[in-house]
Amino acid sequence: MDNLRINADRLWESLMEMAKIGGTKKGGVCRLALTDLDRQGRDLFTKWCEAVGCTVSVDAVGNMFARRPGRDPNRPAVMTGSHLDSQPTGGKFDGAYGVLAGLEVLRTLHDLKIETEAPVEVVVWTNEEGSRFAPAMMGSGAYAGVFSLEETLAKTDEEGTSFGQALRDIGYQGEGLGGRPCAAYFEAHIEQGPILEANAKTIGVVTGAQGQRWYEITLTGQEAHAGPTPMARRKDALVGAAKVVQGVNAIGHALQPGACATVGVLKVHPASRNVIPGECWLTVDFRHPDDTKLLEMDRRLRALVAQAAEEGGLTFKIEQIWEFPATPFTPELVDAVRRGAERGGYAHQDIISGAGHDAIYMARVAPTAMIFVPCEEGISHNEIENATPQDLAAGCNVLLNAMLDRAGVAT
Ligand code: GLV
Ligand code: MN
Ligand code: MN
Repeated sequence: MDNLRINADRLWESLMEMAKIGGTKKGGVCRLALTDLDRQGRDLFTKWCEAVGCTVSVDAVGNMFARRPGRDPNRPAVMTGSHLDSQPTGGKFDGAYGVLAGLEVLRTLHDLKIETEAPVEVVVWTNEEGSRFAPAMMGSGAYAGVFSLEETLAKTDEEGTSFGQALRDIGYQGEGLGGRPCAAYFEAHIEQGPILEANAKTIGVVTGAQGQRWYEITLTGQEAHAGPTPMARRKDALVGAAKVVQGVNAIGHALQPGACATVGVLKVHPASRNVIPGECWLTVDFRHPDDTKLLEMDRRLRALVAQAAEEGGLTFKIEQIWEFPATPFTPELVDAVRRGAERGGYAHQDIISGAGHDAIYMARVAPTAMIFVPCEEGISHNEIENATPQDLAAGCNVLLNAMLDRAGVAT
């Protein structure tokens, strides 16, 4: 049973098929969480899993679990998974790869008529991206008890539609939340950064993920006429916001190595060309592998916003809406991934995840590890996101063998 291989062509074809759902003109994917396109992706996943004899169940926040029984139904499952939602200008592989690599494991076990000792499950987590509903990793967070069911269902998108309503609208609200016995959780993902490609490595053995904080900031000045209002009398919220954008970027540069600092959304009110902006709302995404440095970034942000407001005669509100600390994965499982890469003959290296992943919340409730494969020029959260069929297959082979290692093969 050592070093089995998945079907690389079938994995690639499934990725391309899934990418048609929400496919964009530029070759990417826009499949926002809990939209009808998300439903179509979920339906396709269900059809594929049922075709290989799995049963699919759905929990109270829409997380889906495709289960392949093991010889011993009482053993905790060996799980894998990721997400099918995407960024508005997302790629074909972020999330979908981890789900479809799991499906390819199910299909390979089915083809080879392998019975595992423990059950095997492939999970689709709801709203990993945090794009339509903030924050990210919501389904896995709710599963792990980080977010309550009530607060999760009550989150709203920009139009004011609640998560719960959107979930019911697509017909994916099930029952129960959390607590599935899990012996090990593996997640395969494209790296979404440039390190593996630059080092000519096929497999990233992910040892953990960096910590992250998300903020929402409102700066309030005064709307006034763009013509008659002298420069000295203005309370221009956008001028303050511009200082914050510059300052956030400077914090990222100052806290090297390791810091990442991004303003991803800036909304200007009332957004009329001859009105001095009275209010600005912006988001900040801070990341660092060292929690003390992340705290320092927080301190600097608060000082930065206070100063920008003071200089511009503005008032301000800073809300930290989300945070998780740097998260190490389970050494035993990380070793299993490393051994899998070695057995497969793949060039590999240890790596820390820069991105958020559902594995980070799963690590709170089950032994967890991740497998990375390179993506072209390290570009992700972009429609041009790309990866080679060979690398994707390599990651899936490592996943298959790591899962079998944990699930055991019935003889
Ligand atoms: C998830 O996509 C993240 O923001 O890292
Ligand atoms: Mn992802
Ligand atoms: Mn993503």
